[in-house]
Amino acid sequence: MANRERFTSRLGFILVSAGCAVGLGNVWKFPYMCGQNGGAIFILFYLAFLLILGLPIMVCEFSVGRGSQKSTASSFKLLQPEGTKWNRMKWIGILGCYLLMMFYTMVGGWMIYYCFLTASGKFVGKSPDLIDAEFGNMLADPKTMMFWTIVTIVLAFGICLLGMNRGVEKITKGMMICLFLLMGVLVINTITLPGAAEGFKFYLVPNMEVVKEKGIGTIIFGAMSQAFFTLSLGIGAMAIFGSYLDKDRSIPGEAVHICILDTLVALMAGMIVIPSCFAFNVNPGAGPRLVFITLPNVFANMPGGRIWGTLFFLFLSFAALTTIIAVFENISSYAMDNLGWSRKKSVIVNLVAMCFLTIPCVLGFNVLKGFEPLGPGTNIMDLEDFLVSSNLLPLGSVVYLMFCVRKNGWGWDNFLKEANAGKGLKFSTKLRGYLTYVLPVAVVVIYLKGYYDMFANKSTTLLIFWMCFAVAMLAWIGYSVFYTPKNKLQSNNK
Ligand code: PHE
Repeated sequence: MANRERFTSRLGFILVSAGCAVGLGNVWKFPYMCGQNGGAIFILFYLAFLLILGLPIMVCEFSVGRGSQKSTASSFKLLQPEGTKWNRMKWIGILGCYLLMMFYTMVGGWMIYYCFLTASGKFVGKSPDLIDAEFGNMLADPKTMMFWTIVTIVLAFGICLLGMNRGVEKITKGMMICLFLLMGVLVINTITLPGAAEGFKFYLVPNMEVVKEKGIGTIIFGAMSQAFFTLSLGIGAMAIFGSYLDKDRSIPGEAVHICILDTLVALMAGMIVIPSCFAFNVNPGAGPRLVFITLPNVFANMPGGRIWGTLFFLFLSFAALTTIIAVFENISSYAMDNLGWSRKKSVIVNLVAMCFLTIPCVLGFNVLKGFEPLGPGTNIMDLEDFLVSSNLLPLGSVVYLMFCVRKNGWGWDNFLKEANAGKGLKFSTKLRGYLTYVLPVAVVVIYLKGYYDMFANKSTTLLIFWMCFAVAMLAWIGYSVFYTPKNKLQSNNK
């Protein structure tokens, strides 16, 4: 067997994992979710979930990756006791990564397109209305969207083709460093905007009106889903980087760094976007279009705005690309690990497949606009995002968690030994009860309650359909997770 590639440095691992975590979730989704869900109150739950849910689950994922030396497609099989059914859970990871990329690459394409538009001076001196209209024009034009989506896909897979060290690690490292520098400069720039103070208030003072209108369940569910999304947890996207990691550092120590970097970027992105809404009279609840209709305004009217604007969208594109590269690395490795394909073959086949898979999402904004799967005003992107962010990520996270703590899974002792191998912060044995009982139950309760709240005020048909879906998912996962073969478990120390 060929040796698995390794990260060349500790910084490489931290930046590549942070690159996977820091993405559109931070710079695009976080500001608009925050705007839609009452600002400060959402942030409060979000931060709490990062700490009490995100961090321990990230440790579980990395440990499974490092312990198995494989991607999700085979890690469960390798570590599970004989006769159990954990291996099926790989489908959450595989399906999750493909589904995520089916809309994520399109939004990544929007970023690169906007970088290009800003650089070409398209927005200079334009009014907020015209800037808003420009976004609408893009959505109405499937050819333009498809073109930029394909550019994104080819760029990211091209980098994967260069290999883990020469491509993924080296290029992501560079992009991440540029990203941090650009962000710092842009935050300073926003602080000086007129009206920024209003924005900061929105950010820091909870808005009870929104809580009443949306229901606290929806907000908490949104914050939990966002915590999983931003840390890339639940579908094995992070686990694979554990598999390239050697054992001289403990996993909890590294996970803390990654969580902190990720949180900083999200909070800074919010600090750039939200005050700009107030400065230019844009509704912070505008949803996914938020960064595209606020930020060009900031740059349209400031000296040197063309350069700053280009840099801003370049920074968003970098954030998106580092995540796409990371997930493509996962996607390419499935066939490499399981079917024995070469990197080149896997990358090329997946590249072509991915281009086709993004078509429904692109068409959902124009040709297939009439299809509203989650109620009035929703589209195919919302559906894909909902399936991944509100289902596969939280449920997949519970699976990783249970795998690490249950006797019929990898088991607490094996998990702890792997997580704590190496220098640095250690995971405490005292957390066992919390991980075994509190966390999984909490996630499932919030999941069901959030589901209910989300559809209860839409329509009964939708509610019944999606509740059945949720229960079916839970039943399938529950059966596989609790299944213990009759002839006792053999101890498993692979
Ligand atoms: N964390 C990524 C982001 O914030 C999204 C992601 C989710 C990536 C799940 C991989 C897996 O953009």
